[in-house]
Amino acid sequence: DWNSGNVIAEQIERIREQVGDARVISALSGGVDSAVSTALVHKAIGDQLTAVFVDHGLLRKGEREQVEQDYVESTGVRLITVDAADTFLGHLQGVTDPEEKRKIIGREFIRAFEKVQLDLVAEAKASGGAPVKFLVQGTLYPDVVESGGGAGTANIKSHHNVGGLPDDLDFELIEPLRALFKDEVRAIGRELGIPEAIVGRQPFPGPGLGIRIIGEVTADRLEILREADAIAREELTKAGLDQEIWQCPVVLLADVRSVGVQGDGRTYGHPIVLRPVSSEDAMTADWTRLPYDVLSKISNRITNGVRDVNRVVLDVTSKPPGTIEWE
Ligand code: XMP
Repeated sequence: DWNSGNVIAEQIERIREQVGDARVISALSGGVDSAVSTALVHKAIGDQLTAVFVDHGLLRKGEREQVEQDYVESTGVRLITVDAADTFLGHLQGVTDPEEKRKIIGREFIRAFEKVQLDLVAEAKASGGAPVKFLVQGTLYPDVVESGGGAGTANIKSHHNVGGLPDDLDFELIEPLRALFKDEVRAIGRELGIPEAIVGRQPFPGPGLGIRIIGEVTADRLEILREADAIAREELTKAGLDQEIWQCPVVLLADVRSVGVQGDGRTYGHPIVLRPVSSEDAMTADWTRLPYDVLSKISNRITNGVRDVNRVVLDVTSKPPGTIEWE
């Protein structure tokens, strides 16, 4: 029967065998799968592994710190953070089409990551150290099935953050989670001591807040959405609803304004949409019937505390016909 300790021991042995004394790179996204696969590989080969975290500036409040401080502290992983927020924002300027946003974010992510890969390869060569030959990927069993992939298949869904590799970065993949389901991955993550905030995290799309701002993505709008999202998450957690909800996108309708009143002044601000959904696998979803008092608290705190927001609305659409994300 299944036991996370056994799986860890087994994987450590396999990883050591596969890697030898070569060096390995892993991309951290802040999500569960990359966090656990990276920690597992680190447990096996220590500082032969370098983890790379691309901050695209589209993260939620506190997420970068969670990775840079809490995750690094609990695992001992050696981490390089790439500060790419300005680059991403520059490329997103004037872009409103959802698919175009996704393409730009995906492309820039790969660019930023490959730059680090090439640097690390060059560094290893220059120092005469062991070559960098492997890339860690947090592929899970459902991903393998979905892609119909056999052993060694690169299996990269269009959803995923890391795209196909160019020839000069022809790395071999390490996929220690290939036989596992999400709940098993979480169990392993806990066994490895990864903080609950990361291991228990709800799904968050690779393009991040970039696809939760309806309209152009700007630094100013990101700041507004980040605050509203932090409030919603805090209240949902406080109410003990994290397990009940699959995820709750918080969306800024940046091109919509409505009239409001605050104090003795008229306001003309933006609406924030709450999109709480219940789901088994994100293929279909129902809107979550959140308690009124929780909704009320979130609404009050957002409209009182977040500048330029004067209205909070609730999305009561199932999937289908609505997708979970708005873009
Ligand atoms: P939709 O909006 O298609 O979302 O109902 C289904 C699930 O996928 C997540 N999602 C993404 N995840 N990159 C990701 O890593 C993406 O581009 C992306 N788009 C949507 C979404 O949050 C939901 O869990």
